[in-house]
Amino acid sequence: MAKILVTGGCGYIGSHSIVDLIEQGYDVISVDNNARSNPSILNGIENITGKKVKNYKVDLCNFDDTFAIFQENTDIKGIIHFAAYKSVGESVENPLLYFENNLVSLINLLKCVQEFETPYFVYSSSCTVYGNPVEVPVTENTPPRPAESPYGYSKQMSEQIVNEFAKSSGTQCILLRYFNPAGAHPSILIGEMPFGKPENLVPAITQTAIGRLPKMYVHGNDYDTRDGSCIRDYIHVCDLANAHTLSLHYLEQGKNTGLCEVFNLGSGNGVTVLEAIHAFEKVSGIKLNYEIGPRRSGDIVAVYANNDLAKKLLGWVPKFSLDEMMSTAWKWEQRLKADETVFLGTPGELN
Ligand code: WQD
Repeated sequence: MAKILVTGGCGYIGSHSIVDLIEQGYDVISVDNNARSNPSILNGIENITGKKVKNYKVDLCNFDDTFAIFQENTDIKGIIHFAAYKSVGESVENPLLYFENNLVSLINLLKCVQEFETPYFVYSSSCTVYGNPVEVPVTENTPPRPAESPYGYSKQMSEQIVNEFAKSSGTQCILLRYFNPAGAHPSILIGEMPFGKPENLVPAITQTAIGRLPKMYVHGNDYDTRDGSCIRDYIHVCDLANAHTLSLHYLEQGKNTGLCEVFNLGSGNGVTVLEAIHAFEKVSGIKLNYEIGPRRSGDIVAVYANNDLAKKLLGWVPKFSLDEMMSTAWKWEQRLKADETVFLGTPGELN
């Protein structure tokens, strides 16, 4: 079984990706310093797959510690690199934290890839690299526009770093541009555990519905969209995870034509904030306590994917609907409330 190193394996997308990789026959190890993730998610992975995944509690910004993982695992065939900070708002307040963490960790990892000649490298990028697109849906050839935050710039720079590294080293790389991940594994044994107060829409919805937040605000309804609220492309986290496994298959089978190919991972459906809220209310039967608030700085009016390339070349077929994203997210929120063992710290705070 090919051994895959997943960075950020205790995180939301990383944990779901590990489940999909194991189910597809890969041997997986994780590296995650748990600074913004909860190691209890590894129990969920084991409950789903029956496999105990080893996690190296290492900060990838520490080169020596990162290098030691590769010395101990010289048979790593591929890497999926999720570990990064991803809060748009926090990145505006603390840009150097984001540039240092997201870029130094990536460069340390690529130095190890070069030293140990790891064949495949899949990078977790983001639709945020498109900035505020002139037209939607965006394709992989839509020219990137100025990012809306240091987080977005860190993703744009990371893509350039991976691209140049691929050209110089011959490592087979793939950049996956996520749209808006949502939902939880159907087993409801793993899901999203936001670090602190959630910035993202779906956890804000479910935490309001369960009472962890008194109410939530729709960040503006005066945009030039069909109902005035922003449009996004929500994609179930399990669909997103499966695309990573398919990317490794694609590289292993030598189907890639370039050293660093790019794929959009979105459902292809643009959904407004208010439509997302109404979808949640429909599947949960709960009237959500929200108000229309002011716009949020840095918000993009509308972005959603043309996902034809991932479908055509990776054989990727997103399966989950918006309703299923909302229903699994809601069931997971209810589980978090019911089962305090999932948190090792106090409820609402990740230790
Ligand atoms: C979606 C919409 C908000 C919360 C995300 C990730 C980022 C990157 C790109 C991966 C916006 C509105 C939200 C709330 C609201 N993903 N909203 N009230 O901004 O598209 O960015 O996707 O790399 O890491 O953050 O997602 O969920 O924050 O916002 O009205 O309480 O929901 O204004 O229009 P966004 P989001």
